Amino acid sequence: MDRLKPFIGPAEISEMVERVAAEIDADCSMSCPVIIGVLKGASFFVADLARSLTMDFELDFIQTACYGMRDEPSAEVLIQRDITTEVKGRDVVVVEDIIDRGHTARVLTQHLASRGARSVRLCTLLRRASGAPGLKVDYTGVSIGEGFVVGYGMDYKERYRGLKGLYMLEQDDG
Ligand code: IMP
Ligand code: MG
Repeated sequence: MDRLKPFIGPAEISEMVERVAAEIDADCSMSCPVIIGVLKGASFFVADLARSLTMDFELDFIQTACYGMRDEPSAEVLIQRDITTEVKGRDVVVVEDIIDRGHTARVLTQHLASRGARSVRLCTLLRRASGAPGLKVDYTGVSIGEGFVVGYGMDYKERYRGLKGLYMLEQDDG
C-alpha cells in the first residue's frame, strides 16, 4: 500500500508558479523564447506557467527517460520524443518537474546547445537540495530534501499525476 502525505498544496504551488513566471518574464520578454516542457512530469507545471507569463513565447515539449538507479553516480538519459521547433539562435527555457541528480538537465542543455540555441535556461518546480551541486538552475520553485514526491504531474509508476497538490509517497513494508 502507498501512503500519501500532503507536502505542498495547490495554493502554495500557485504562488511558486506566479513568482517563477515573473522572473522569466523579467529576463526573457525581449526575445520571444522557446519554452520547452519536459514530459510527462512537468506538463501541469508548464501549462500553469505558460498562462502566468505575460511575454510572447513559443511552446514545445520533449520527453525523456532516465535509466539508472537512484544511488548510481551516472545514468543514461534517453530522448524519447524530440522538439519540432527550430531553436537555432533562440533563447530557450527548459521546464522540469524536479531536478534530482541533474542528469536530465545536463543532457537537455547539451542537446539544445548542439541545435544552436543562443541560450539555454533551466526552470524547475522542485530542486533536490542534495543533488547536482554544480548545476546552475536559473528558476526554482522550491528546494526540497529527500523523499519521493508525487502529484501535480509527477508520478510513481505512472500513477498519482492528477493530484492537485504535491504529496510525499510513503510505502508500507509488506
Ligand atoms: P534527474 O536525476 O535530475 O535527471 O531527474 C530525473 C527524473 O527523475 C525527473 O525528471 C523525474 O521525472 C524523476 N524523479 C526524481 N525524483 C522524483 C520524485 O521525487 N518524484 C517523481 N519523480 C522523480
Ligand atoms: Mg518520472
